[in-house]
Amino acid sequence: MKKIKKAIIPAAGLGTRFLPATKAMPKEMLPIVDRPTIEYIVEEAIESGIEEIIIVTGKGKRAIEDHFDRNFELEDNLMKKGNFELLDKINQSSKVEIHYIRQKEPKGLGHAIWCARKFIGDEPFAVLLGDDIVQAEKPCLKQLIEQYEETELSIVGVQKVSDEETQRYGIIAPSVMKGRRYQVDTFVEKPALGTAPSNLAIMGRYILTPEIFDFLDKLETGTGNEIQLTDAIQKLNEVQVVFAYDFEGKRYDVGEKLGFVKTTIDMALKDEEIKDELMRYLIQKLEKNKLEIANFKSLY
Ligand code: G1P
Repeated sequence: MKKIKKAIIPAAGLGTRFLPATKAMPKEMLPIVDRPTIEYIVEEAIESGIEEIIIVTGKGKRAIEDHFDRNFELEDNLMKKGNFELLDKINQSSKVEIHYIRQKEPKGLGHAIWCARKFIGDEPFAVLLGDDIVQAEKPCLKQLIEQYEETELSIVGVQKVSDEETQRYGIIAPSVMKGRRYQVDTFVEKPALGTAPSNLAIMGRYILTPEIFDFLDKLETGTGNEIQLTDAIQKLNEVQVVFAYDFEGKRYDVGEKLGFVKTTIDMALKDEEIKDELMRYLIQKLEKNKLEIANFKSLY
């Protein structure tokens, strides 16, 4: 069996939901407490046993490369100050080899993955999308890799979403279920409201066999006039089984403002340095809001 050693992280998106913050800074570099969002993704890949990562970048994404590069001046400074804890923090990603490739035109997720085909070659590989951060006892990608080791077939991570949310995701029509693993009849990208075949949404984690490139090669544009990875997966599933796995863990959507703020609060509440003070602040706020609500009600 071929081991999953390589991962693709697409990071070419424009980040328009976070403008103006993302005018001159890649959205993947927006910090959650003190780490850029993409670092959470890279860390999950490392903890899942990935040895090499290729980040698909686009225009204006240089800061990502600089972030994962060594910064000798800063290292020297921290070393002299004896700040080894911070030194260790800034070099976390040195445990994995990171490569870069540019997606020259914004033609969609399927096209971004296709851009990395030469790096992947003839091996099964992982894909991690930067808008989805998963906090789990066992890293989400590791859960999928373990499933792959049982089946040696492609598998996508899914979780349940509400009826209204189905239109924002790739959705599966599940058939046979074994534990948390499903066989899938069809994969549809962003079905119109009320037409989704289930509430199981693809959540930005994939293990794919290299045959996916045969379909990405010839794919026409789909939803949003973009080349969709979900469409290629649907085609692959017609000739080679693609499973879905309802992974364990809490998934955060850092691709939109409210999700980003919720993630920041949850991560900050795990940070030893600030969690107690933050909790006090939140409780105070809540108490104040309760008073405001009570005052408001008393007026009527
Ligand atoms: C992409 C995929 C979609 C998936 C989603 C997960 O959509 O195309 O199938 O469900 O990521 O976050 P995007 O959010 O890039 O529009």
